[in-house]
Amino acid sequence: MTTARILILLLLCSIPLMVSAAPIQGGVHLDRKVVPRGCSTCHLKFNFKAGGGPDTCVICHGDPSRLARQYSNMPSGFAPKAGTLKNVEAEFSKPHRHPTFDVRGVHKGGETLPETDERIPRHADCVDCHNPHFVTPANKFAGIRGKRVGNLVTSISKEFELCYKCHAESANLPGRFTNKRAEFVLSNASFHPVEGEGKNSAVVSLLKPYREKKVNAGDVSTISCGDCHGSENPDSPQGPHGSLYEHILVDNYSTKDNQSETPFAYALCYRCHNRASILGNESFRYHAQHIQGKGGTTGSTGTSCYTCHNSHGSQENRYLIRFNPTVVSPNSKGMLKYVEKGVSTFRGECYLSCHGVDHNPKVY
Ligand code: HEC
Ligand code: HEC
Ligand code: HEC
Ligand code: HEC
Ligand code: HEC
Ligand code: HEC
Ligand code: HEC
Repeated sequence: MTTARILILLLLCSIPLMVSAAPIQGGVHLDRKVVPRGCSTCHLKFNFKAGGGPDTCVICHGDPSRLARQYSNMPSGFAPKAGTLKNVEAEFSKPHRHPTFDVRGVHKGGETLPETDERIPRHADCVDCHNPHFVTPANKFAGIRGKRVGNLVTSISKEFELCYKCHAESANLPGRFTNKRAEFVLSNASFHPVEGEGKNSAVVSLLKPYREKKVNAGDVSTISCGDCHGSENPDSPQGPHGSLYEHILVDNYSTKDNQSETPFAYALCYRCHNRASILGNESFRYHAQHIQGKGGTTGSTGTSCYTCHNSHGSQENRYLIRFNPTVVSPNSKGMLKYVEKGVSTFRGECYLSCHGVDHNPKVY
């Protein structure tokens, strides 16, 4: 070992005392049995800025054949045994993914999120979602800073809090995207039960183990972003890194109008909602007519769940009702609204125009 290297290592060991009150410890990367070369694995050549960016991470969390090669920016003997870690890098070569490798060099250590400057380009580095000093197999968000309340910075414990750092109040949120916190907040008229249990006690289509309210030990009454967003392959590493399906979804979900209903078209929804119940009109008695179309000699095809339902939540309507404005327009009186007539009565009124059919209102 050269004198310079020894000096660097000495300095590295004293840095936790110098930089912060919270010592860098407890994380799996600092366990010498797991990552034998410690701090210098990622910080050789004094790179503290971003620890080398995502490229550093995927030397170990990427294509296992890389481990056989020598890396100039890593000390010798740095690597865990080839094949012991899942290939996270491969997820980022899928067509739908977080822009971890697409947008480089924007992330800054210690930056504030949600972003307050609309001019900063959108980004998502590995270290925005995982703190390499604190992460453990049991807690992949350990050490990620949450909201600032006064002088206190909370630590994140729930997945959705991590997502809200970039998908809620961010000043640089692209126009076509919506504030997810506003969609999931428990005071909304309806929402998928991510932050807490849902409001509807008669979701008749729910498949086991899902249930409106937790009654028995095995019941699942809340879900996570990760139940819908993540790899399409259950054997892939967990997490919303990338997917073959649009919007990084775990299953296919078509949002288009004028299409035939198939188990594949709405596979995502049918994971938790019984297709036979939906198409059997157990709740909304005109579900099948809209989803499958009238078919036959009329030749009419159906429309997506997305034409009537928001996938996340609805501020003003029950049953996640939100009409897709590119398909649905105001009726002949200029009205566009949904009126419900009480939970589990399965009755309501729609004021709108769709496929040239005036609903003024249509009652069910
Ligand atoms: C698995 C790789 C890895 C290991 C091991 C590691 N670090 Fe880091 N470290 C990083 C990355 C990546 C960043 C940049 C974080 C960012 O930009 O948000 C970083 C940032 C830092 C910083 C800049 C300030 C900060 O906290 O963001 C210091 C100081 C630091 N590391 C010290 C250490 C010390 C000391 C050790 C050993 C006890 C260590 N690191 C081990 C990856 C690692
Ligand atoms: C020197 C190889 C190496 C590098 C470089 C490295 N890791 Fe790891 N990482 C590991 C090992 C080994 C584990 C422990 C795996 C286990 O015990 O299941 C781990 C665990 C993790 C975990 C916990 C989940 C799991 O699979 O256990 C996350 C998240 C993680 N690393 C992210 C990162 C990020 C982000 C970076 C880059 C800043 C990074 N790693 C850099 C080797 C590495
Ligand atoms: C550090 C910022 C950041 C964090 C944290 C983050 N994202 Fe993202 N996400 C992005 C960026 C940037 C994009 C690219 C599109 C954009 O600019 O919104 C994106 C895209 C997505 C997309 C694809 C959108 C589409 O229509 O193609 C989904 C889905 C998504 N994120 C879900 C999540 C989930 C779930 C979490 C929490 C586990 C999360 N994100 C956490 C920054 C982030
Ligand atoms: C029940 C399944 C489900 C859950 C749970 C879910 N999503 Fe989605 N999400 C979808 C579907 C379906 C789409 C694509 C259609 C759409 O845009 O509504 C989507 C689209 C998105 C998009 C891209 C479009 C946009 O409006 O920004 C982002 C970002 C996103 N989700 C983030 C999240 C976050 C963050 C969470 C958790 C707080 C979450 N989702 C929970 C199903 C879900
Ligand atoms: C937008 C946020 C986000 C980004 C960016 C991101 N991850 Fe993840 N990652 C997650 C989430 C969420 C999980 C799942 C945590 C859970 O459910 O336990 C996860 C899980 C993991 C795991 C554990 C997988 C398993 O099956 O146990 C590893 C390892 C990992 N990420 C490494 C990385 C690396 C390396 C990068 C960058 C190349 C990266 N992540 C980028 C959010 C992210
Ligand atoms: C034409 C509009 C429309 C379309 C298209 C539509 N729905 Fe609905 N859906 C409704 C209405 C209205 C209700 C509320 C019924 C009531 O009064 O309780 C509802 C209720 C529901 C419910 C809650 C009650 C239950 O059955 O468990 C679920 C779940 C549901 N829809 C899923 C879907 C899925 C999945 C699709 C696509 C395959 C879809 N919907 C397509 C209008 C629609
Ligand atoms: C991971 C499981 C899961 C997936 C995937 C899923 N849902 Fe749900 N959904 C639930 C649960 C659990 C509830 C019950 C919430 C409650 O009791 O209010 C629910 C409730 C609903 C409701 C009724 C909400 C209310 O307040 O009346 C509608 C409508 C709905 N889902 C539509 C969809 C559509 C459309 C999709 C596909 C884009 C989908 N769901 C995908 C789990 C899921």
